[in-house]
Amino acid sequence: MKDYKKLLLNNKAWAADRLSMDETYFERLAKDQKPEFLWIGCADSRVPAEEITNTQPGDVFVHRNVANMVVHTDMNLLSVLQYGVEVLKVKHIIVCGHYNCGGVKAAMGNDDFGLINKWLRNIKEVYSKHEVELGGIEDEKQKFNRLVELNVHEQVKNLAKTTIIQHAWQNGEYPHLHGWVFDLHTGLIKEVLNIDSPEQIDPIFRYNL
Ligand code: CO
Repeated sequence: MKDYKKLLLNNKAWAADRLSMDETYFERLAKDQKPEFLWIGCADSRVPAEEITNTQPGDVFVHRNVANMVVHTDMNLLSVLQYGVEVLKVKHIIVCGHYNCGGVKAAMGNDDFGLINKWLRNIKEVYSKHEVELGGIEDEKQKFNRLVELNVHEQVKNLAKTTIIQHAWQNGEYPHLHGWVFDLHTGLIKEVLNIDSPEQIDPIFRYNL
C-alpha cells in the first residue's frame, strides 16, 4: 500500500474511534473553536504540539515554522498572532523550541543553504547578540543547547515587542507569554521564560498606546 493511503485509512479509524466514544463529538467540534493556547513551534516532525502536551483538537491554535521564529515582518505569523489574540482571545502564547533543532544548528555554521539563509539569518542575529555568553561555552553541544534556549528567549521577547500584544495587555491581563524547550531525549519540556506585563519589555520597544 502507498504510504499516503495509510494516512487516509488511519483517519477513518480515528474518526470511527472518536464516534464510538462520543457520538456527538464531531457535531461539537464543528460548532466553533475556543482554544486557550497559541503554540508557536518548530516545523520539526518530532515536536507535534498536541501530542507532547496531550491536548485535543480545539485546544491549541498552532503556528509552526523552521526554528519557531517570531519575525516582525512575517505576515503569516503576524496574521496568526492577531487572529489568536484579538478574535480567539487566547490566554497563553507558547513559543516552543527544541534541543537538536536543525534550523538553529544550520544558523551556527557557515554553510550556504540558498534561500533558507534568509530565514536562518534571524537566528544568526540571536547568535551574534549573545556572542559573549556563547563564546564562553567550550563544549559545542552545550553551546548548541544554549543557543536553542536563547533563541526561544528572543522570540518570546519579539512577541512582546508587537503592538498586537501590547494592545492586548492594555485592555486586560492576557495573553501571558511563555518560552519552552522540548528535550527529544526525555520527552520533557523545560520552561525558560515567562512574560506577562509591559514592564518586562525593553523601553525602546514599548509603544505609547
Ligand atoms: Co527545529
